[in-house]
Amino acid sequence: MCGIITYIGNQNALPRLVDGLRRLEYRGYDSAGVALLTKDGLWVRKAVGRVEALSPELIDPPETTIGIAHTRWATHGGVTEPNAHPHIDTDGNIAVVHNGIIENMDALKKQLEGEGVVFRSETDTEILPHLMNYFYRGDPLKAFTTALKQVRGTYGCAAIFKEHPDRIFVARNGSPLVIGLGEGETVVASDPQAIVAHTRRVVYLEDREIAVVTRDGVDVMRLDGTAVETSVELIDGDYGVADRRGFPHFMLKEIHEQPESIERCLRGRLDLNQGNARLGGLNMSPRDLIGVNRVINVACGTAYHAGMVGAQAIEAMARVPARAEVASEYRYRHPIVHPDTLFFAVSQSGETADTKGAVEEILLKGGQMMGVVNVVGSTIARTCGRGTYIHAGPEVSVASTKAFTSQVTGLLLFTLMLARTKNLSVIEGQEVAKNLQALPGLVQRYLANPGPIDDAVERLIHARYALFLGRGLSFPVALEGALKLKEVAYVPCEAYPAGEMKHGPIAMIDEETPVVAIVPNDSQREKALSNLKEVEARGAKLIIIHTEGDKELEELATVSLPIPACPWYCSPIISVLPLQLLAYRAGVALGRDIDKPRNLAKSVTVE
Ligand code: F6R
Repeated sequence: MCGIITYIGNQNALPRLVDGLRRLEYRGYDSAGVALLTKDGLWVRKAVGRVEALSPELIDPPETTIGIAHTRWATHGGVTEPNAHPHIDTDGNIAVVHNGIIENMDALKKQLEGEGVVFRSETDTEILPHLMNYFYRGDPLKAFTTALKQVRGTYGCAAIFKEHPDRIFVARNGSPLVIGLGEGETVVASDPQAIVAHTRRVVYLEDREIAVVTRDGVDVMRLDGTAVETSVELIDGDYGVADRRGFPHFMLKEIHEQPESIERCLRGRLDLNQGNARLGGLNMSPRDLIGVNRVINVACGTAYHAGMVGAQAIEAMARVPARAEVASEYRYRHPIVHPDTLFFAVSQSGETADTKGAVEEILLKGGQMMGVVNVVGSTIARTCGRGTYIHAGPEVSVASTKAFTSQVTGLLLFTLMLARTKNLSVIEGQEVAKNLQALPGLVQRYLANPGPIDDAVERLIHARYALFLGRGLSFPVALEGALKLKEVAYVPCEAYPAGEMKHGPIAMIDEETPVVAIVPNDSQREKALSNLKEVEARGAKLIIIHTEGDKELEELATVSLPIPACPWYCSPIISVLPLQLLAYRAGVALGRDIDKPRNLAKSVTVE
């Protein structure tokens, strides 16, 4: 959501902080700000808008080697300069940046106002510097911890004290912070993306831990003062390649990266001889697998759609009951957790608060919890302890594309493993393994010749309402297509199971309505075709994604978007591609901010 970066070291802090903000900007881009600690005190500059809007404010900056910075996604209070971080106390001694939400803000604010504090913003964050100042008697660590002990809610936060230019105080509770240990410099960020420019040696802060950060390292302790043994880890992976590689937008680049990202997810995991898959991170023997009697995928947004695809594939191929659950609902439903159920938390960022909350609830109830995660070392990956990384590489575009296809790929690998222990013969398994291996090539082939996307875009961008339809595995794909179009192009639309559409939404159809239908050549094709005839009879303009060579659908379509033939379980990975392109090009045609759509943020670390 928001991004935090802090620097203390032997170099000029400001350019490093601004570079960090640029790398984090995809997490929140309402406003940005920076606070430097100089010999004359705090130097604070803020601006509404993107990080680039901050540059004109950074006139004659002091040279200093310590500072904190923030890029904001508003939760409390509108998008204004006073609400941008860092926030400072009334005396101008302490500056704080904060991600998360302070739930007892009203009570704390009242208390502080009673002490004569005048608030200058509408944010919950401003509580923190005032509280720290209130408790400050010369010992900054004590003031920092005592203040945080008053707070209920979530935080990843960092503070600097004017009188202590040799250290930064950071803390985490529910909102991630990573500490990068460089040579004579220490960088803290809410996301490893901003650390890798400096170092790959990191310490991950855990919930209710605080750290005193100096040029030479870090001292970590619990909020209650007890010591913590830290371990230094090495970040691997493709971080920091925040480069569009010649594409006009990250979203388009990431769409075109899918042949490689799927290939990375499959690499070394298919056994073509045994017709099986290997996901070592699950740490499950065939005996463990045979004991799995139910699978539940918890996730949000796009990852939830991938979870829906995975659940259907598991039921159909492995004959094990499976379903996907929206994490924010599941966690508060007092879920029933059976020991023979396997849970997957599907998350690109590994930081989504709702998914993390569901993971904690399932673990607390003794559930077997696995992550299907992209960001290595992220909170969900570490909390689950077991699982599989999807290796999609950094996804910078706020609208998720390559993570979806890799999440589905990861879940299909698991499906094959489970199915082989349950009811799939070696011959059938070999066929599935071979088809999965062919996926990157199919994706490549489609992307090289995506069909008349712009004709479809023309129909969608003028629509007052559009309907996406699919049956079976194509229903979650329809949901994903509609989500992308809303996110990137802001076109009002919804997705329905094609058969359910006549139970209500058909009333919305008139001669202007574009209907995007996903109808690959699978067992549901005939039924879907009948549903399309129903909407066509009401004048709808059909944009049909269908298997190449399907003449009947081609003729029925106003715009026909053929995709390569593939087995039923691979079809979501192929049929989502035209939908990603549709959303992208509709967004471009409407002049939208493709990589940073309004109101959205890349990882949603608040509930
Ligand atoms: C949609 C999108 C979101 C995320 C959702 C979960 O394009 O990006 O719907 O899929 O917020 O995020 P992760 O996968 O990071 O848990």
